[in-house]
Amino acid sequence: MWSPAVVFAVLVTICCNVSASVESSLRLNYRPVIGILAQENIVGDPHAQGSSYIAASYVKFLEAAGARVVPIRINRTNEEYVKLFHSINGLLLPGGDVDLQKSQYSRLAKLFYDLAIKANDALDYFPIWGTCQGFQQLTVLTSNRNLLTLTATRAVALPLIFTPAAQNSRMLKTFPKDLLQSLSVENITSNFHSWSLSLQNFSRNVKLKRFYKVLSTNTDGKKEFISTMEAYRYPFYAVQWHPEKSPFEWIDKPGMVHTPSSIRASFHTASFFVSEAMKSQHSFSSASEEEKALIYNYSPVFTGLSGIFMQNYYFD
Ligand SMILES: *[C@@H]1O[C@H](CO)[C@@H](O)[C@H](O)[C@H]1NC(C)=O
Ligand SMILES: *[C@@H]1O[C@H](CO)[C@@H](O)[C@H](O)[C@H]1NC(C)=O
Ligand SMILES: *[C@@H]1O[C@H](CO)[C@@H](O)[C@H](O)[C@H]1NC(C)=O
Repeated sequence: MWSPAVVFAVLVTICCNVSASVESSLRLNYRPVIGILAQENIVGDPHAQGSSYIAASYVKFLEAAGARVVPIRINRTNEEYVKLFHSINGLLLPGGDVDLQKSQYSRLAKLFYDLAIKANDALDYFPIWGTCQGFQQLTVLTSNRNLLTLTATRAVALPLIFTPAAQNSRMLKTFPKDLLQSLSVENITSNFHSWSLSLQNFSRNVKLKRFYKVLSTNTDGKKEFISTMEAYRYPFYAVQWHPEKSPFEWIDKPGMVHTPSSIRASFHTASFFVSEAMKSQHSFSSASEEEKALIYNYSPVFTGLSGIFMQNYYFD
């Protein structure tokens, strides 16, 4: 017969996620470096140089919350990616428009996702953030299928419809109450996507359902889709909306929002993710390796006021 104390300890071990147990045992890393995955250039981009790009808004988004950024360029050797994984403290999968199963972006997202699963299982904390296409890519990686469906959400700002599970979200509990209130009633989350993960397809897929806690949904009037989620047992987070756009993108079209509340929402999402990256102890093997990898080695290109991204970094 087990004593109540032993039973309690066993229950705590079973119920508490990996992240909670790792995080309590670690000191924080106040010099986090986050990798942002590049993707194949948009066909017909008149400013394009080389083969891939990163929109500068994702870089600024993380920098404004206290991280430095390393670009993860496409078309390198697997060896280089593995080395980079052990040098950085988190990964951001940005929005864009590439194939979720055949592009270099999808191949590298899988490579880093698999490494992150293994690392977290071994109590080596490594967070991943997916925005828009990054959200969609995570659903493909977790379910091994593309379960997305078309929605009428190409340029629209929406309030989040929080689920009951949002109450005990690791991410949302760090947001100020008045900001959660704004997010739930004001049209301040920018949606620029044709594809969505419907609540229906999510609920029918056991892999997704077991992996992610749905924090908010939205609807295009016909289909209810997932707009915010976090993994139960891994420090993985995904938003179908664009927290990086409000402060850093200025194309004048419906769906773009620049209200103070939208900018606070942007900051708090970035700040949450950067605080997750601070729990990672990965580091570059030397200061010169770090210096060579940082995005400061590249200059962003202004694409004009009508650009969907104001500034892009381009890479060979
Ligand atoms: C990838 O790199 C190889 C060798 O460096 C080069 O031949 C190839 O054109 C590159 N592909 C892309 C898409 O940049
Ligand atoms: C569910 O996923 C399939 C692809 O497997 C897709 O064709 C279908 O439109 C999706 N349905 C909904 C309601 O999301
Ligand atoms: C929010 O957007 C919806 C859908 O576009 C619109 O019907 C509603 O009036 C907007 N609400 C506010 C407060 O702007």
